[in-house]
Amino acid sequence: MEKYIVNGGKKLSGRVRVHGAKNAVLPIMAASILSGDKCRVFDCPKLSDVKNTMKILERLGCEVILSDDILEIDSQGIKAWEISEELMREMRSSIIFLGALVSKMGRARLCAPGGCELGNRPIDLHLKALKQLGIEIREENGFIEATAERMHPADIHLDFPSVGATENIILASVCIRGETTVSNAAKEPEITDMCDFLNKMGADIEGAGTEFIRIKGVPHLHGAQHKVVPDRIVAATLMCSAMTTKSEIELLNVRSEHLGAIVSVLRDCGAKIEFFRDKMYIRAPEKIKSTDMIKTQVYPGFPTDAQSPVMAALCFSQGTSVIVENIFESRYKIIPELSKMGADILQDGRVAVIKGSSLCGAHVRAMDLRGGAALTVAALGADGQSEISGVHYIERGYVQLDNMLREIGADIKSI
Ligand code: EPZ
Repeated sequence: MEKYIVNGGKKLSGRVRVHGAKNAVLPIMAASILSGDKCRVFDCPKLSDVKNTMKILERLGCEVILSDDILEIDSQGIKAWEISEELMREMRSSIIFLGALVSKMGRARLCAPGGCELGNRPIDLHLKALKQLGIEIREENGFIEATAERMHPADIHLDFPSVGATENIILASVCIRGETTVSNAAKEPEITDMCDFLNKMGADIEGAGTEFIRIKGVPHLHGAQHKVVPDRIVAATLMCSAMTTKSEIELLNVRSEHLGAIVSVLRDCGAKIEFFRDKMYIRAPEKIKSTDMIKTQVYPGFPTDAQSPVMAALCFSQGTSVIVENIFESRYKIIPELSKMGADILQDGRVAVIKGSSLCGAHVRAMDLRGGAALTVAALGADGQSEISGVHYIERGYVQLDNMLREIGADIKSI
């Protein structure tokens, strides 16, 4: 499907389940090759990014099957260490195979991921850290060749708590004899989930989820089973759909401890939010209050991935709100599209000022994953019909977002 057609203004109600986290399952799929064994991953979301990563695993010589939400990976037959340019271009996050391949195969060859819709996506922190582990890195003609004759443990300090760099260091060092440490590590829950999976495979990793991670190398890893954590950004997106339609809905399969920053902002906007074990209840206010300032930060600060859906909700608020996007330089491509719906948003560099009002349906185009989800959230609350093209971006991170929303009463269809 390439377009959504949304007839806005309908109240939502009922309950919807949040699927497993894209940003946990992707590094877990890379980690699985370290076992040279069979791994099984439960609650694996059937996303286009997951399908692309399955293709990479198959090209490396693994056997991969995804049936319903159970992913089975057999990496006994792994024999390759290259990732093709076409697959790397599809998904820049495949850079986390660099650490896993060097660890498993002693070498890796993949093309530099380059930029994406969110702007320039450097990997300097990844490469600097891997070199500290004794990995030789050669970059030529846009390709990265890594070899590891003699890897050794290291005490690595990250200049910035990069999620991908933290994951690459862990994947590269998990079987290096001795102790590797990472200070100023990223603390995202998806990293903790990957480390939980690695420890089930026999790894010895302490401190995941904190800024200091200790990896004690083990001689080998074995297969394991794991259930992926819920996707906190999908949960945030569904919460914002309740806000724009002034509805009350129930979310199943959420982790309250992963949603603190998002819940805090939406409560400031007047939402009533309660948790009962792995369920959440959200009731939107009749009038959404504006917020003084939202600054995107590394976890546990306000997540950049939730910024666009929250911006969509703030378009319906009373008053003026300010967002500062500190993580990605091109996270504001959604602004001209929201303006087509009547949004009043001023942008100056990393700062966006949103003057709340109401929105009208329009023909808009998704330019990136979270922007596409945000346009859908905005269309639900807009008066009239919207047409959202570029749905392939949305399918990278949401399993049938249209079906999820239709389940709770939205008038949305794919064409
Ligand atoms: C992960 O990307 C996520 N992707 C992103 O989610 C998420 O937005 C991001 O973390 C921040 O939380 C996956 O996990 C697959 P970073 P990643 O390295 O690892 C700069 C989504 O929508 N940087 O923490 O690429 C970089 O330019 C996606 O699901 C360097 O300068 O994020 C950016 O400004 C989008 N040098 C900042 O750090 C480096 O070597 C954060 O990047 C690496 C990163």
